[in-house]
Amino acid sequence: MQYGYFDDKKKEYVITTPRTPLPWINYLGSEDFFSLISNTAGGYSFYRDAKLLRLTRYRYNNCPGDVGGRYYYIKNKDEVWNPGWQPVKTELDHYRCRHGLGYTVIEGEKSGISAALTCFVPLGEHCEVDRLALTNHTAKPQTLTLFSLVEFCLWNAVDDASNFQRNFSTGEVEVEGNSIYHKTEYRERRNHYAVYAVNKPVAGFDTDRESFCGAHNGFEAAEAVFEGKPRNSVASGWAPIGSHCLEVTLRPGESSSFIFVLGYAENLPEKKWSAPGVINKASAQRMLAKFQTDVQVEEALTALGTYWEDLLSKFRIGSEDEKLNRMVNIWNQYQCMVTFNMSRSASYYESGMGRGMGFRDSCQDLLGFVHLIPHRARQRILDIAATQFEDGSTYHQYQPLTKRGNTDVGSGFNDDPLWLIAATAAYLRETGDFGILQESVPFDNNTEKAQPLLEHLRRSFEYTATRKGAHGLPLIGRADWNDCLNLNCFSDQPGESFQTCSNFESGRAESVFIAGMFVKYGTEYAEICEHLGKTEESSRIRAQVQKMYDTVLDAGWDGEWFRRAYDAFDAPVGSRECDEGQIFIEPQGMCVMAGIGVKEGHAAKALQSVKDRLDTEYGIVLLQPAYTTYRLNLGEISSYPPGYKENAGIFCHSNPWVSCAEAVLGNGDRAFEIYRKICPAYLEEISEIHRTEPYVYSQMIAGKDAPRFGEAKNSWLTGTAAWNFVNVSQYILGIRPTFDGLCIDPCIPKTLSGFTVDRICRGVRYRITVDNSAGVQNGVRRLIADGIEVPYRIVPYAVHKKDCIITVIMG
Ligand code: BGC
Ligand code: NOJ
Repeated sequence: MQYGYFDDKKKEYVITTPRTPLPWINYLGSEDFFSLISNTAGGYSFYRDAKLLRLTRYRYNNCPGDVGGRYYYIKNKDEVWNPGWQPVKTELDHYRCRHGLGYTVIEGEKSGISAALTCFVPLGEHCEVDRLALTNHTAKPQTLTLFSLVEFCLWNAVDDASNFQRNFSTGEVEVEGNSIYHKTEYRERRNHYAVYAVNKPVAGFDTDRESFCGAHNGFEAAEAVFEGKPRNSVASGWAPIGSHCLEVTLRPGESSSFIFVLGYAENLPEKKWSAPGVINKASAQRMLAKFQTDVQVEEALTALGTYWEDLLSKFRIGSEDEKLNRMVNIWNQYQCMVTFNMSRSASYYESGMGRGMGFRDSCQDLLGFVHLIPHRARQRILDIAATQFEDGSTYHQYQPLTKRGNTDVGSGFNDDPLWLIAATAAYLRETGDFGILQESVPFDNNTEKAQPLLEHLRRSFEYTATRKGAHGLPLIGRADWNDCLNLNCFSDQPGESFQTCSNFESGRAESVFIAGMFVKYGTEYAEICEHLGKTEESSRIRAQVQKMYDTVLDAGWDGEWFRRAYDAFDAPVGSRECDEGQIFIEPQGMCVMAGIGVKEGHAAKALQSVKDRLDTEYGIVLLQPAYTTYRLNLGEISSYPPGYKENAGIFCHSNPWVSCAEAVLGNGDRAFEIYRKICPAYLEEISEIHRTEPYVYSQMIAGKDAPRFGEAKNSWLTGTAAWNFVNVSQYILGIRPTFDGLCIDPCIPKTLSGFTVDRICRGVRYRITVDNSAGVQNGVRRLIADGIEVPYRIVPYAVHKKDCIITVIMG
């Protein structure tokens, strides 16, 4: 069943009912100011950091699920309705929500009045603009009363949701004309405030929640709205809100629009006040002046459209598979931008109060983003690297606002360091900017301890190289990519963090997955060294990589697949010797991607075992058999009921690794089958089962052991976005920047007769046509670049050209 449809021309997903199985959301903003917006106008806004600078309040895990947002109420005589249905939930005569790239349009219609609410964050501005256009389709003049509503968050989202003994007495606002200013804590240590304004004269306002709603009502029954009478309340403590009341009479056929702006502004400490106790509002007013007319709004929307057109022109496919085209050209790249910006901080499943930016997450998100805005990727690499310690280990997370490592979680996740090599190598291949390696980067954010980025990479490599266990495999530490495989944790106390407690560190537990990473990213580090002419260093590294390769084929091999790990007592995890958890997905994907066992035949066997034991109609589960009991020696993984999350859920992030691995072996049919199974556009028709948005990846789909097999959770903020983009663009379509040139080596289903790709790389537009009339899964028979036959599959970078026409004949 579908709840909407793709409008590829407009690059929109159009939702046709407010009753989606879960809120289907969009993100507004791509730099500093962000908003989440659901298809019923729920969500919230923040400046840079969802925890520390949250502008509007949102109650997670609410009942019903999605209440709180930017709400516009239309009172037409006795009828009160919202264009997005919530919160009043009056049945609408017509409803549409169009989620587009950086904007959302919600259209509602009731009794001959239509409302179109367009929400977006303009480029370069620190605000959300909501334009509400009302039209009278009846034959009579209609007088309407319009109410707006946002509820302010008292900035720090954690405090806001917990420290009520203080919060109920701190709220302060100022109202000036059509603008409401939220200034809680401004009189003391904050130099920032929020503004919520409208471009037309108001008939009244409210800034105190209780006055607006009434003591015993929620937003769905706000008394001021239902009575049509604003209270002109000025909040003093309790819960400050922003609500404008406007009156409008529309002649038959007439339209009128209202432009609301919710913005964030800062002042220098010495310029805080315009009079004692009165905010200096100059910067907010400068911002508001830019959004007073429809023309200004249209211009800002056009600029946003051009911005996205330009970004998406970096990689564009044309093929006979429209779902593939829409994922590659629009939604997958869009989600890569969102994950790059948010990491795992703020979604409808991540509360914005917890994890901040993850070290490994940000490194991997960058893999799918680097082609879009390379200079932002560059800065991100430098920021992340600055949270590395001198011994090569890293903070596991850092706060976006301060860019400082998060001491609560600390370090000890032994895969983290190698991801820094992965991210940097991807950046170097995309840009050729080897200068970044000479940038001086602090350790532990301490500038006195700065070293060139290259030295950070060396320490990443060395960290792993020098911390091996009894089998010669890397020590796992608190966890590797699988945060829930906690082999040193041994937690038996409720509430203990599986990630941060280490109750039994025997110093023995090892990870085959990190070994696979070591081979893959160690090789990439060696290539970087070779490119820099450091041949001695590179041979030293390659020797260590070779040794690890051999170790994996020895201690890491179980007979039919790669083992997952060794626990704190040296017992194998992910082995046929185990009663449950005999085979895991991660090492099969990572080791084969690293090339381990390809020539020896182990790789093909491992992938066959994945197919036989882990594959399902909705994707590949993380492990089998699922753990049915809690295991002290394994940790959080065995805490989940079978089929959910890391305990045999279809943990989407790890699926592309297997698809890439199949491509390494040349199996285009199977690579694509795996790609397609978790790809949201292909799941649109089963939205009643899948339940999350059909335009973005979710972190997890319940596995076959779960009662709700096929149901997805945690949409949007997942490494799946970056990895499936890497998978489809570089492995399946096979268009891969290397250090020396653009490699074109497709591995596609034999039924795909060919495709075209426009790829901008290092300033050159490569127009690639791939002809698969031979109906093969891989193999390049001829490659012609600008009329010249190219041996091998690598087209040297065309530095002096603007365009390069490439024809590839498969066979
Ligand atoms: C989840 C993991 C997540 C971790 C973060 C666990 O509960 O299952 O997916 O990475 O928390 O701390
Ligand atoms: C989600 C986390 O953000 C990511 O870092 C981790 O790799 C996966 N969960 C798997 O546990």
